[in-house]
Amino acid sequence: MTTTRRCVCPGSYDPVTRGHVDVLTRAAALYDEVVVAVLHNPAKRGTFTVEERVDLLGRALADVPNLRIEPFARVLLVDVCREVGAQAIVKGLRGDTDFAYELPMALMNRHLTGVETVFLPGDPEFAHVSSSLVKEVAALGGDVEGLVPDAVLKALLARVRPGQEG
Ligand code: PNS
Repeated sequence: MTTTRRCVCPGSYDPVTRGHVDVLTRAAALYDEVVVAVLHNPAKRGTFTVEERVDLLGRALADVPNLRIEPFARVLLVDVCREVGAQAIVKGLRGDTDFAYELPMALMNRHLTGVETVFLPGDPEFAHVSSSLVKEVAALGGDVEGLVPDAVLKALLARVRPGQEG
């Protein structure tokens, strides 16, 4: 019997960027199945609703067949991994600030259930791209074309620059 190699790629994805798409696509090349876990923090009011984030992820990753997108709330990531039967968590790292943020979480998750975290170096083309920076730049009139998938660009401008998209 062969075991399906499955990973979870967790995040807020508010909204998905091209940096996320790069890491998710590469995770899908390494694992049989990728579960993109949209983890909603109920204490944080997002720019997009969880349903909108799932929809935008779905449109950005429509051509990756072995990947599915699922929302979760008020759960530990390790319990998500257990629920979906994932052996690993995959995260992208843009640099040492990401590593400093991610390492304690990776160690805590391994402490809790033994689940491993696999880090993929982010494509340097997107080293400066984060959901929060993209939203700030877009809201103040900056050009974020090429930093987010096309479907996200439209939705983002409509949300943060209503009435003056484009
Ligand atoms: O995209 P983000 O906001 O950097 O993602 C952070 C996220 C959602 C992956 C992280 O906060 C998380 O894993 N939350 C789930 C709750 C949990 O398990 N917390 C303990 C982590 S050690």
